[in-house]
Amino acid sequence: MADDALVDPPRSGSPLVDPPLIRPALTRDVLAIARLVDAYSGPGQLLAKSLVTLYEDVPEFIVADHGGEVIGCGALHVMWEDLAEVRSLAVRPAAQSRGVGSTLLEALLARARTLGVTRVFCLTFQTRFFGRHGFTEIDAAPVTEAVYQQMLQSFDDGVAEFLELERVKANTLGNTRMLRHLT
Ligand SMILES: CC(C)(COP(=O)(O)OP(=O)(O)OC[C@H]1O[C@@H](n2cnc3c(N)ncnc32)[C@H](O)[C@@H]1OP(=O)(O)O)[C@@H](O)C(=O)NCCC(=O)NCCS
Repeated sequence: MADDALVDPPRSGSPLVDPPLIRPALTRDVLAIARLVDAYSGPGQLLAKSLVTLYEDVPEFIVADHGGEVIGCGALHVMWEDLAEVRSLAVRPAAQSRGVGSTLLEALLARARTLGVTRVFCLTFQTRFFGRHGFTEIDAAPVTEAVYQQMLQSFDDGVAEFLELERVKANTLGNTRMLRHLT
């Protein structure tokens, strides 16, 4: 469902002259967030999200607001006492490679610290990007067996991916599991 605004012009790599405002998402941002997530959802990329899920998740989201336009978004989903996941991190093609994704990710990590979380997980193809931000590759879900069993009670598809459940295996093929310890 990509619209014209998401057509990718050549990347300049130069920082945006007027950096975007990173702010908590509002309900009125959901359609723009949906366009971003839709543009990147598919095998190996972002988990597709219905509009109702995005509205439910508004409190988890932050956006990069450039003169009133949402050019990037990302979410932090708390999974356990010490653990959260970076989700739906996306920047419009036209605004990529200018530091917007990094600013969003650092803001999500700051939010994780504020919430008392000490480890942040992501499931991604963008290993170099996350590696630059202190994430390292891990093999399996970084929780104890007892916590794993409790997490099985979640209905959330992202949690199912984290737990590597059979029903979502197709979504996670080729993705790398990464973890960042917060200091
Ligand atoms: C991953 C993603 C969010 C990164 O967003 P971004 O705005 O391009 O991120 P940044 O600009 O901060 O960093 C991207 C690269 O540009 C480089 N860069 C940053 N600022 C730069 C600048 N001013 N000039 C030149 N290069 C720059 C960074 O070094 C980085 O290189 P790396 O990928 O080798 O680490 C974006 O590529 C995206 O939306 N991807 C599709 C969705 C996706 O896969 N999301 C992750 C799922 S968990």
